[in-house]
Amino acid sequence: MKIDYLTLFPEMFDVLNHSIMKRAQEKGIVELNTVNFRDYSGNKHNQVDDYPYGGGQGMVLKPEPIFNAMNAIDKASKTRVILMCPQGKPFTQQVAESLAQEEHLVFICGHYEGYDERIREHLVTDELSIGDYVLTGGELAAITMTDAIVRLIPESIKEESHLDDSFSTGLLEYPQYTRPADYNGMKVPDVLLSGNHKHIESWRHEMRLKRTFERRPDLLEHYPLTQSDKEYLEHLKRDK
Ligand code: ADE
Repeated sequence: MKIDYLTLFPEMFDVLNHSIMKRAQEKGIVELNTVNFRDYSGNKHNQVDDYPYGGGQGMVLKPEPIFNAMNAIDKASKTRVILMCPQGKPFTQQVAESLAQEEHLVFICGHYEGYDERIREHLVTDELSIGDYVLTGGELAAITMTDAIVRLIPESIKEESHLDDSFSTGLLEYPQYTRPADYNGMKVPDVLLSGNHKHIESWRHEMRLKRTFERRPDLLEHYPLTQSDKEYLEHLKRDK
């Protein structure tokens, strides 16, 4: 996969040169490239933003630097061009899974009140947001999305290790423990020491339901609950 970032702050992407993202680049799983769109302003003052037509607060990102920078990028037949903005569709694990299948992504990261609408209309295939809050720019959102996407590319991390992720299954993760079995009187649940895999699996499944019920009940609306899941949840509700 290749990812290009259109940004005024290329150094911000240095955080991707560590840990698993660094290894993924070294292994050739992903190639990351920043493009400073100020270099494509097409005017002698290198101006990338301007006042909004019709008046109003703040500056608007001009179309030329973004269109010119996009023209300079080698594109695949199916490049996804993703605009970072708080009005975008929420970025979820499902969106990450879909983007992890692509050959080429371009993230457009603005730092202004807004983007000229022609960028949205004629260049962009997706608008994405990482949450209902406003950042000073799209870079941190693009970095967050990159991390979530690249770890899903086969060979990035051990493949099985994300099958159980919170959100991949539709439920939050079960509690995990490691040695020692008794740490200063704080004990690991007996079932995990029992060696009975059937019991362990069913305990883990109940813990996922319980966590999801307590922390993210909204997720249960989309989860295919079995009859015994429903009975367990009824029992949790009664205890509450
Ligand atoms: N740019 C500013 N805020 C943002 C957000 N919440 N998500 C994505 N891009 C943004």
